[in-house]
Amino acid sequence: MDWKNVFILYVYCLVMFGHVCYVESQGYDDAQTLLTYLFTAYDKSIRPIDKQTDAVNVTVDFNLLSVNDVNELSGALKTTGFLDVKWNDTSLNWTWNGDANTLSFYHWPQNEVWKPDLTLKNSFLNYKSLGDSSLLVENNYTGEMTWHPFQVFESTCSFDITYFPFDIQNCDLIFTSWSYTKTQLNLQVGTNGLNLAYYEANSDWDLKSVSWSSSEGADETSVTFSIKIKRKPLYVLVTIVLPIIFLCILDLFTFVLPCSSGEKIGYSMIVFLSFAIFLTIASTTLPQSSESTAIMTIFVILQTAASMVIVIVSVLLVRINNFSKSTRIPCPIIATMRVLKCRVCNTKVDTSDSGSIDSDGEEVPFTWKDVADMIDIFCFLLFAGALALSTLICLNMASVGI
Ligand SMILES: *[C@@H]1O[C@H](CO)[C@@H](O)[C@H](O)[C@H]1NC(C)=O
Ligand SMILES: *[C@@H]1O[C@H](CO)[C@@H](O)[C@H](O)[C@H]1NC(C)=O
Ligand SMILES: *[C@@H]1O[C@H](CO)[C@@H](O)[C@H](O)[C@H]1NC(C)=O
Ligand SMILES: *[C@@H]1O[C@H](CO)[C@@H](O)[C@H](O)[C@H]1NC(C)=O
Repeated sequence: MDWKNVFILYVYCLVMFGHVCYVESQGYDDAQTLLTYLFTAYDKSIRPIDKQTDAVNVTVDFNLLSVNDVNELSGALKTTGFLDVKWNDTSLNWTWNGDANTLSFYHWPQNEVWKPDLTLKNSFLNYKSLGDSSLLVENNYTGEMTWHPFQVFESTCSFDITYFPFDIQNCDLIFTSWSYTKTQLNLQVGTNGLNLAYYEANSDWDLKSVSWSSSEGADETSVTFSIKIKRKPLYVLVTIVLPIIFLCILDLFTFVLPCSSGEKIGYSMIVFLSFAIFLTIASTTLPQSSESTAIMTIFVILQTAASMVIVIVSVLLVRINNFSKSTRIPCPIIATMRVLKCRVCNTKVDTSDSGSIDSDGEEVPFTWKDVADMIDIFCFLLFAGALALSTLICLNMASVGI
């Protein structure tokens, strides 16, 4: 064998085997060569790190796309988003000469390469591995792997609805590696954290702020992405609070109807029934949770109770109105009425037109009808004051969180 042949053989070897780890162009063949080169000795069950006692560093960023649904009753938050999961695979690297015409990265199906068994730790549904078999993992020539599992996440969240509809809720999405311990896999938040670049606003909830953190548990490392959302109160105020206040105002006018008209009880009863029917309709909008009671629910119950009291008072008023003249008006009532009449009208009590003689023969300037009228005015003012006060206090207490 002369030196010329050895040289030709050398060049041949260089061309044939040299390009195995040196992808020259972007042809179909080159991709096939790269595949053969990378995956002949590759096993996706082996953690991609030289020293198998070291932990693989995995960074996670979360891109929130939307907040879909908040379910206070079941305590579930539905969000759509995708993760940027990054790690370095020491086997999936090749030399790249910097030429844009050659392959510097490639995409492999996610089930062909090693990937962390990430899962949503506080998932509302059953355990489910992230991603889908149709997703691809990007493989940079340096061995950097990037995976973007896209998902509708349903996470548990404990809602505090005390301040409904001005409530602010804090919810976490906690991701962890289900099987690997912290000595095998080190999960950390990446450089972007919780990214809102793709966020679409929700019609019922405002996104107030976001935060993220990496934490180390006894066995595993996990990353937490927190979102703070605030309910938009307008819908509830317009569809629940305003109608209830309207009904309460209608209810007040029970006391404007004279007892003799015979409509008083019927009117107050109709308003009470409207309350009952309205509450049946509104109960789907009011938050349903037995953990905490919303101030708004207490407000609604108070107004319903007031409406019931108004029915009872009107029945009693009609009864008082119909007391016979021979029934004695108790002295305290007469005294109160005297004082009130003098104070309010600042006139002398006129005794000439109506009056009754009590059992002692003393002339009494008032009839039971006057008493009923006085109670009407008193109740109108009392319930109007109570309505204004309770509305103010409840709204003020509920909006404490804003
Ligand atoms: C993983 O990250 C830690 C610090 O965050 C570093 O000390 C360690 O060398 C990294 N491991 C690898 C394999 O890069
Ligand atoms: C992967 O390696 C590159 C270069 O050494 C480093 O900058 C990057 O932080 C590593 N990525 C992870 C997730 O450890
Ligand atoms: C791939 O990475 C390993 C470990 O970092 C290194 O020893 C090897 O030389 C790299 N291979 C290529 C072709 O760059
Ligand atoms: C591959 O990694 C190199 C070095 O980290 C980086 O400059 C380049 O942008 C990466 N390419 C892709 C497609 O991610």
